[in-house]
Amino acid sequence: MEFRHLGRSGLMVSEISYGNWITHGSQVEEDAAKECVKAALDEGITTFDTADVYAGTRAEEVLGRALKGVRRESLEIFTKVYWPTGSGPNDRGLSRKHITESINGSLRRLQTDYVDLYQAHRFDVETPLEETLKTFDDLVRQGKVLYVGVSEWNAEQIAAALKIADEMGFDRLVSNQPQYSMLWRVIESEIVPLCEKEGLSQIVWSPIAQGVLTGKYLPGQPPPAGSRATDPTGGNFISRMLTDEVLTRVQELKPIAADLGLTMAQLAVAWVLQNPNVASAIVGATRPEQVRDNVRAAGVKLDAEVLKKIDAVLDPIVERDPARTVSPAKRP
Ligand SMILES: NC(=O)c1ccc[n+]([C@@H]2O[C@H](COP(=O)([O-])OP(=O)(O)OC[C@H]3O[C@@H](n4cnc5c(N)ncnc54)[C@H](OP(=O)(O)O)[C@@H]3O)[C@@H](O)[C@H]2O)c1
Repeated sequence: MEFRHLGRSGLMVSEISYGNWITHGSQVEEDAAKECVKAALDEGITTFDTADVYAGTRAEEVLGRALKGVRRESLEIFTKVYWPTGSGPNDRGLSRKHITESINGSLRRLQTDYVDLYQAHRFDVETPLEETLKTFDDLVRQGKVLYVGVSEWNAEQIAAALKIADEMGFDRLVSNQPQYSMLWRVIESEIVPLCEKEGLSQIVWSPIAQGVLTGKYLPGQPPPAGSRATDPTGGNFISRMLTDEVLTRVQELKPIAADLGLTMAQLAVAWVLQNPNVASAIVGATRPEQVRDNVRAAGVKLDAEVLKKIDAVLDPIVERDPARTVSPAKRP
């Protein structure tokens, strides 16, 4: 495993991290979840990403149990707050009340005294930014949170947060967690240049496009049994990518991966790691062998010729519009 700094901070993260959205507490049984976490640890992954909202808070519980007994100092545990975790109007968003209550719940479920990174899972249009940032800063002072970041905020929102933090002396954001893959490059034109200048990293989600970039979904054919596309929750999220055009072009990447001696999943993960602003690629897995496959992307260098070939195959289906980074117009 290789390690990278998280933004301009002193914290190192494994360049491949493990995330448990859709899987823990939902798509996979607890034993399989624990086997995946064990495989991740065995392969040198030290960074684990979850969120209060995943599987209605059960994902954090499963991760807490799976990591129990592991030396805390050898792990970086990341979680998030924003999406609803209950039915009340204050069980969501980035108010002082919800953040304070949510971190306490996350720490309890994760069975830890602190998380290494606490992330605002979206931008909350209904809370003043100062309120959110002051609360994050307070959590850092209390030792419940070591670093703070955001997820899927646009460049304007990140810039506004940095300005307030600098004016008020609050702890600065160190990271953004966006979707990023060969197919989804919307961060490249605005967010990455801003973050490079300001010392924030990207910790990217769905680097394998939820499994699509493994090439296992074939055009015109039903999805493989047990895959995310067959899961009631996961199927909703992956469906927009399961078009014949996308799946046909993805198949055309197979010779490129084969020439490099990489699996398709490894090529996808290695691709996001070529961007120096990416500190870590968060991979998901339903089986330990997927974790073992994906971690082999650590340290892989792709030369300019390979990147050009990939672009030639995917260009018509790559999403690049920075306006696709959006938070809900109203609290969910
Ligand atoms: N901040 C946010 O808003 C946000 C949003 C989404 C995700 N995330 C984070 O990012 C993490 C990763 O997201 P993701 O799960 O969508 O990432 P992903 O790595 O793109 O997709 C993971 C899924 O692809 C399939 N897969 C992975 N490796 C494979 C392999 N080698 N061979 C075949 N199939 C393979 C597995 O599903 P099947 O076996 O079921 O097909 C696996 O669960 C999440 O757990 C979460 O921590 C954050």
